[in-house]
Amino acid sequence: MHKAHHTEPRATVGTPPEDETPPVAEWCWHAPRSATSEPVSPAVASLIGNTPLIPLQRVTDSLAPEVALYVKLEGLNPGGSVKDRPALFIVRQALGNEKLGPGKTLLDATSGNTGIAYAMLGAAFGFPVQLTLPADSSPERVQILRAYGAQLVFTDPADRTEGARRVAEELARAHPACFFHADQYANPANSLAHTVTTGPEIWAQTAGRVTHFVAGLGTGGTMTGVGAYLRARNRDVHLVGVQPDQRRHGISGLKYLKAANPPGNYDPTLVDMIQMVSTEEARAAARQLARDEGLFVGISSGAAVAAALRVARALTQGLVVALLPDGGFKYTGDPFWAE
Ligand SMILES: Cc1ncc(COP(=O)(O)O)c(C=O)c1O
Repeated sequence: MHKAHHTEPRATVGTPPEDETPPVAEWCWHAPRSATSEPVSPAVASLIGNTPLIPLQRVTDSLAPEVALYVKLEGLNPGGSVKDRPALFIVRQALGNEKLGPGKTLLDATSGNTGIAYAMLGAAFGFPVQLTLPADSSPERVQILRAYGAQLVFTDPADRTEGARRVAEELARAHPACFFHADQYANPANSLAHTVTTGPEIWAQTAGRVTHFVAGLGTGGTMTGVGAYLRARNRDVHLVGVQPDQRRHGISGLKYLKAANPPGNYDPTLVDMIQMVSTEEARAAARQLARDEGLFVGISSGAAVAAALRVARALTQGLVVALLPDGGFKYTGDPFWAE
């Protein structure tokens, strides 16, 4: 069993915790479990994807009769989010080209859903997973990551996700023999997962009638991958990216792209329109989805629906699809649900 490794909040490379103090080389400390491509796909991986697409029925009252808004419920993936898809593609590719193999640990920076997906897949395939994440990541997420047995390296919260990315890059550079650096922001398997799975599902589930696709922008993988597929099927499909309206925001999973490094997985030329959503608007929409539709979804899902409703209200005809990245369970610590 590899054990979880919890550094102090300001810890960076080479400052392991006082109770373990391994020399730097022992960043490879885990007993290597045999990362194996046998079985090629653990049973849990077969549950990833093929999520339901359902119409919203009450929050859509104000829409024209020939306008429908459908939501794709990615929270129903086994790891609880859309990120199971890219994580599975990244892992399969790395096992296939042997970047991930015996003695190697999958490493990436993520405070959220991708980390949970990696941790789940690491447990199922049998390879260790090490994640760098800001020390103020929500206790719910940290507990889920611990449940799957991931090793955690906490980084300075003031440096946010960029700081966690930097630490992961430093670790990967310093110890190339130990780590497969999955790098969800730049790994093309991220958007490829959506071109191969999410896009075709949406096309099939709408019988090709989708006119608008709305998704939040984090790594940009969802929009770039789904967008590329839908455009290839119908060049008139409108692609709407959703962003927080401020650098400091509470919409977990989304990036204020002006401030962050533009992710390698994001193709901004594909998108027709960016909708900016405030944290308050996203929370209000998430609460409304729970109360009026019986859908308990995360805050970025609220942002996607708030943006999709704006788009849908301006139409006289159309089928708008919004992708809802995760469920609300990881966000129950936020007080706004009760407002
Ligand atoms: C909750 C949530 N919403 C939205 C996104 C954005 O997805 P993508 O990274 O594909 O742009 C993410 C991704 O991190 C997420 O975790």
